[in-house]
Amino acid sequence: MQLPSSVRIVDVGPRDGLQNEPGTVSTATKLALIERLADAGLTAIEATSFVSPKWVPQMADHKDVMRGIRPRPGVRYPVLTPNLKGFEAALAVGVKEVAVFAAATETFSHKNINCSVAESLRRFESIIEAANAHDVLVRGYVSCVLGCPYEGAVSADVVARVASELSDMGCYEISLGDTIGTGTPLKAARMVEAVSARVPVQRLAAHFHDTYGQALANLLAVLQLGVSVIDSSVAGLGGCPYAKGASGNVATEDVVYMLDGMGIHTGVDLPSLVDTARFISAELGRSPASRVATAYRQTADA
Ligand code: HMG
Ligand code: MG
Repeated sequence: MQLPSSVRIVDVGPRDGLQNEPGTVSTATKLALIERLADAGLTAIEATSFVSPKWVPQMADHKDVMRGIRPRPGVRYPVLTPNLKGFEAALAVGVKEVAVFAAATETFSHKNINCSVAESLRRFESIIEAANAHDVLVRGYVSCVLGCPYEGAVSADVVARVASELSDMGCYEISLGDTIGTGTPLKAARMVEAVSARVPVQRLAAHFHDTYGQALANLLAVLQLGVSVIDSSVAGLGGCPYAKGASGNVATEDVVYMLDGMGIHTGVDLPSLVDTARFISAELGRSPASRVATAYRQTADA
């Protein structure tokens, strides 16, 4: 079995995790979460999104979050930017990395960013041009890679086409989003095979939501194909507000436990990460969604 020797984890908890929270999460809590994730050894933390506060009220404090971060050497804090307006606002507060987000289906694209896939790619072109002029890195997302909440099954060829367009435009990495977590391992593997025929696998990331409990199995399937970047969310927080029924990302602590057990290096300290999962879950008034945080609690109580 071929597996990478190390995996870079992008914790998307402060953004994907919190964007769907119905209650107010204070900027101070978001900053404490980001700080604790860095303490636990995460080197990529998706911090917030520069989207319309009317569309996603929870991310309305994006400027304060970015101004409040105490940047650490070796840690990246990417943010989502759907258009030039968002990019310019991010640039104004010193952001060094942004992510643009496209979809594999027209309906999801309209519901999420209010434009067609082709129009979104045109918008991203202007973001990438501006980003290049300011030495800002751009990551690209494709949503609905294993199913769409509106259109159902999604063809791997369509995913590959959108991914390769983002890559050709200058995204340094393409993150493949199973937005509604309906994927299963063979489908995930076939999708990654189709995409990696057009974009080198070293430049792909797996962004799997765990709605149906398939995310770890899907990750194992794509790790075997050479994927070595995983997006996950501490405590399994999250979901996309424009994908009905989408629950959280795969929990970072579940991913780290699996990778530790397979001897794959992540640089993340599991006990410290579990503490972070407990911290943010307590702030939100619930228990962490992850199996590993639950198992740690039971072990400690025993
Ligand atoms: P729109 O309504 O078509 O925008 O929204 P517009 O250009 O017509 O402007 C309307 C108003 O929004 C104007 O303000 C603009 O200034 C303002 P008004 O004159 O009415 O006061 N506006 C903005 N404000 C702040 N920041 C901006 C911005 N742009 C316009 N950047 C828009 C289009 C893209 C803005 C909107 O649809 C939007 O914000 N969508 C974001 C949706 C979102 O954040 N979804 C969740 C993230 S994606 C995700 O979770 C999936 C992912 O995790 C991968 C996966 O799991 O698959 C990444
Ligand atoms: Mg997501």
